[in-house]
Amino acid sequence: MKATFSSSGHSGGMNQMHKYQMSAMQKSEKGYFLAVFLTKRYAFFMFMLNFDAKLRFLLYFCKCFYRKGNMAQTERGNFASKMGVILATAGSAVGLGNVWRFPYMTGENGGAVFIFIYFVCVLLLGIPCMISEFIIGRHAQANTARAFSKMAGGTPWAVIGYMGVLTGFLITGYYAVVSGWCVHYVWSSLLGHLSGEPEYFKSFFADFTAHPFKPLFWLVVIMLMTYLIVENGVRNGIERASKILMPLLFVLLLIIVVVSCMLPGADAGINFLLKPDWNAINSDVFLSALGQSFYSMSIAMGCICTYASYFSRQTNLANSAIQIGIIDSMVAVLAGLMIFPAAFSVGVSPDSGPSLIFITLPNVFQQAFASVPMVGYIISLMFYSLLTLAALTSLMSLVEVSTAFCQEEMHISRKKATFLVVAAASIIGMFCSLSLSGYDGLQVLGRSLFDIFDFVTGQIFLPVVGFLTCIFIGWFVPHHIVRDEFTNFGTLRGTYFHFYVFLVKYVCPLCILFIFLHQFGLI
Ligand code: PHE
Repeated sequence: MKATFSSSGHSGGMNQMHKYQMSAMQKSEKGYFLAVFLTKRYAFFMFMLNFDAKLRFLLYFCKCFYRKGNMAQTERGNFASKMGVILATAGSAVGLGNVWRFPYMTGENGGAVFIFIYFVCVLLLGIPCMISEFIIGRHAQANTARAFSKMAGGTPWAVIGYMGVLTGFLITGYYAVVSGWCVHYVWSSLLGHLSGEPEYFKSFFADFTAHPFKPLFWLVVIMLMTYLIVENGVRNGIERASKILMPLLFVLLLIIVVVSCMLPGADAGINFLLKPDWNAINSDVFLSALGQSFYSMSIAMGCICTYASYFSRQTNLANSAIQIGIIDSMVAVLAGLMIFPAAFSVGVSPDSGPSLIFITLPNVFQQAFASVPMVGYIISLMFYSLLTLAALTSLMSLVEVSTAFCQEEMHISRKKATFLVVAAASIIGMFCSLSLSGYDGLQVLGRSLFDIFDFVTGQIFLPVVGFLTCIFIGWFVPHHIVRDEFTNFGTLRGTYFHFYVFLVKYVCPLCILFIFLHQFGLI
């Protein structure tokens, strides 16, 4: 297979790299100022001569302003610092999946053994896949769809990029529904509504989700928050927000972990989570760990690729992916240490998914701090604020995928693109939300629209896009491009480059194929 690649001839050397850095934007900006200068001079003389020139003068000016506007629209943002890169991308990875799925899976699947297997999966599958998306995004410096198209050079591989954008967009809608629930719970805990008998928490959640409008209101609130951040651009919006929200998330997490682990009887929870149970290990455990590592690192939804298109040429892709993998896994383990000790100390057996965070945990917090209700109130408020932060930073990355796509493909301003995406995703989210309120019209094959979106994106699109991305990078993209991006054009040693290529060529596609077939019961 032969492909033509968008940016040609940048093989090695710092000089080459600097040339590359002189973006098309800078060049066109120079041209623009020259044009304005000449236009003004020319127009001034003509203006003195006749009326026709006056008209032309106006036309020239309008054109120049139009061009200036257009340039502003197509200008690509970038992350200002290494810290910004890590925090924003980790913000995408750290999400609801870390809190509501990982701890439960760990407890059910052999505790410390599962954590060990999970780490191996992150190392052998999550990190290489993340590096692959980094390579595509940073090389093409474009939204995910265009990035794949550029690198595919007119071949059908371009479809992967479009699928990535579509997956990201579809997930945005239903992810926003649950994110809205988190904000509602922040509000409810603030007002002190989260207290009562265990049954109360069940009906509180059931009544809320069955209500036709309340969830929609909170969905709009979280989407508005996302809009206000993303519309400000990569540096002033996403990066700045991540630098505030992520440290806040870590602080909240650590406080709750410490408080939870100090409760009487907390060690039973710590034991449940961390005690290795070798008997629990079977093929299912491996496949669950693989799937979770994939989802948790936000792979195959365009988020990582889009963010990477804002990385500088100096960003060390492999190191960044490793650091993000470590942060994401640490948050997941800490989430376990936040939930299980508290749950075990009051003798409540934890479950997973929405019912864990919206029914079981408010009850756990209330019971655990029954003697000092004020602490229970503060912990509950902190917990839902933490969840909201985790959801918000992930939502930002999801919205950014489609925003970059609309902005660059439809040539509209960032504000307009963000508005369009947020509005469209909110509408999808509203239908998903209504489908949970029991509207029969929104049930397909006995499943709610919410479940269908979850299934189609998580179980079909995600593995398919991930698998094709690995094959694309491993077998199709010329080796020298992959190496140049991995080693920053030869300026890094790239010690693990061959290992990475081996993983992405053979190990990752095979593992993803296994998960895919296994979830449909085919193996
Ligand atoms: N990684 C997120 C989580 O753990 C989920 C997510 C996937 C978010 C893709 C954004 C994009 O919850």
